[in-house]
Amino acid sequence: MGFIADALARVKPSATIAVTNKARELKAAGRDVIGLGAGEPDFDTPENIKAAAIAAINDGKTKYTAVDGIPELKAAICAKFKRENGLDYQPNQITVGTGGKQVLYNALIATINPGDEVVIPTPYWVSYPDMVLLAGGEPVIVEADKSTFKITPEALDASITSRTKWVIFNSPSNPSGAAYTRDELKALTDVLLKHPHVWIMSDDMYEHLVYDGFEFTTPAQVEPKLYDRTLTVNGVSKAYSMTGWRIGYAGGPAELIKAMAKVQSQSTSNPSSIAQWAAVEALNGPQDFIPANNEVFKGRRDLVVSMLNQANGISCPNPEGAFYVFPSCAGTIGKTAPSGKVIETDEDFVTELLETEGVAVVQGSAFGLGPNFRISYATATEALEEACTRIQRFCGNLK
Ligand SMILES: Cc1ncc(COP(=O)(O)O)c(C=O)c1O
Repeated sequence: MGFIADALARVKPSATIAVTNKARELKAAGRDVIGLGAGEPDFDTPENIKAAAIAAINDGKTKYTAVDGIPELKAAICAKFKRENGLDYQPNQITVGTGGKQVLYNALIATINPGDEVVIPTPYWVSYPDMVLLAGGEPVIVEADKSTFKITPEALDASITSRTKWVIFNSPSNPSGAAYTRDELKALTDVLLKHPHVWIMSDDMYEHLVYDGFEFTTPAQVEPKLYDRTLTVNGVSKAYSMTGWRIGYAGGPAELIKAMAKVQSQSTSNPSSIAQWAAVEALNGPQDFIPANNEVFKGRRDLVVSMLNQANGISCPNPEGAFYVFPSCAGTIGKTAPSGKVIETDEDFVTELLETEGVAVVQGSAFGLGPNFRISYATATEALEEACTRIQRFCGNLK
């Protein structure tokens, strides 16, 4: 038996981080590379939020805090859930972690017994299945429709067994940008009402990034009867351009929240005190930069969707939210790249695209649905335009 734990053999490293690293390496070697792999806004953190962090440092708020969040941040989160989602949570129903990623992981570690199943719709955020595996559970993958990237109530129903512990929802979605309307979500929550042993983990990280007047809703709001078995997860990374600050949070039943704090107390303890004070300002302070940023994101989405749909063999649906598009490259499969390599999979497509044109994107199969690829359009508009021109040229040169 090797030194490294067997559990790790079941887990893959993050494909999105791998692509970002590869693009970085090529750049360092002098190649002209446009990286569209990373899932983070290119905007700077707003000044008022930075100022709150600097004030926290100057005021000596630099010590250990309560494990799962300072009372001021929990109060700001309760107010946010009430104001934006119509959800009533008390502070003992709130947990704060080092990013939404830790919050999701804590929830799985706190609840999964060996063999428990977790239903994950495709295309999924790369970390869900691997987190479930690390926690000792079994991911159960439900395939979405290949053009809407949404699952049907029937498919959800069919995926649930007596071993199902959680269903993970993520709307708007990373990687597809697809978001469920209130009616679509209601049809899914109706299914969950029939299965009282199943809990709902709603990853609302992209809540604020929706376009064309789309109304965001979350399961506990759409179906209040599910409130007692829903964990509503969110964070400041995406809407507030605070990816590096590492603050995520969740609201849910007090017993679950307490169990999650227990996990965190024996692993990392509190998230950065300074980042927590910055998050208080993010949630309580002015929100007007969010619609302004969204205008920019929407313009980029429209540009990218339009340009990709003009590339040979590519078909790109127009997503409701997040800052990703997830086009199909099915029309390029079987063609030959300039290197002589025949494109057999979406992984071949992204590898050849990076080698030939220096555009870094992530293969759809890493998210459980292909042949597709994910583009993050959270990057400068000129770079996006150039990247799409290169993709058009690459596709046009396939034989
Ligand atoms: C769907 C989704 N959930 C959760 C996260 C985690 O975000 P963070 O840990 O920065 O809060 C991300 C980040 O990429 C994401 O895309």
